[in-house]
Amino acid sequence: MTPDPVAGRVAEILARSGFVAAPDEASELVACAAGDPDRLASLLARRLSGEPLAWVTGRAEFCGLEIRVDPGVYVPRWQSEPLARRAASLLPARGTAVDVCTGSGAVAAVMRALRPSARVLATERDLRAARCAAANGVEVYTGDLFDPLPAGIGGSVDVLVGIVPYVPSAALSLLPRDTFRFEASDAYDGGPDGTDVLRSVVAGAPALLRPGGSLLLELGADQAELLADALRAHRFSLVGVIEDEEGDVRGLEATLRARRGRSGASGRPAPEAP
Ligand SMILES: C[S@@+](CC[C@H](N)C(=O)[O-])C[C@H]1O[C@@H](n2cnc3c(N)ncnc32)[C@H](O)[C@@H]1O
Repeated sequence: MTPDPVAGRVAEILARSGFVAAPDEASELVACAAGDPDRLASLLARRLSGEPLAWVTGRAEFCGLEIRVDPGVYVPRWQSEPLARRAASLLPARGTAVDVCTGSGAVAAVMRALRPSARVLATERDLRAARCAAANGVEVYTGDLFDPLPAGIGGSVDVLVGIVPYVPSAALSLLPRDTFRFEASDAYDGGPDGTDVLRSVVAGAPALLRPGGSLLLELGADQAELLADALRAHRFSLVGVIEDEEGDVRGLEATLRARRGRSGASGRPAPEAP
């Protein structure tokens, strides 16, 4: 294929400014400008200012899907893809899933794509993000964690997944320099040890999940251990951790045990699952 001279010049400018994936980014910007040089100049200026590429082009790829990402909305990360795929694989064909803190709706969109006959609901507190998720075809409810979900799904959900804010407050300043020049700390800040929102999800999940249903949460390496007591207290058994392509721990998977004391066919109380 003949190299595109415009893309080449854009790549050179990006590379000189230290963008490591300059050729790929240049191709995306050129495609987005669709032959309009003024538009290309404006897109390039935004990118050079450090604005996330997905906001500039209005799209990101996630698990092979094209996801619309509006300015101001958290950009789905490739590191979250194994969690999204695992969530979809645990969802029965006609089951029900909930994605809390859905952002652009990327994880919910993957579950919808891989389980088209299932029902996938999502929640999001930020109005811009909720609108973006809706534009991505997600059944999204605006509000805090579980609050906005429709009544009647309690106890019936097969999979509950959340990529919630989990960065310890003191570590926010260590995030890449451009992050907070453009993104809101709301998407990241998980409180003193990063587990505030994670704990709220663990505490609220048993009311939604059916016994045997799965909880999948993205988290940092040491946070699975921090959550161990809360998981036990809320009837979860830890299935294991989820690693990304580089072998780093990116999440946990747990299943909800049946309530102690429920009678079996014999009339005797069923034993608590391990
Ligand atoms: C880390 S981002 C993840 C977004 C999305 N799950 C993804 O991976 O692309 C966290 C999202 O949670 C939303 N959020 C933060 N606290 C929330 C809450 N209490 N209830 C609902 N959404 C919340 C933020 O607005 C943000 O969009």
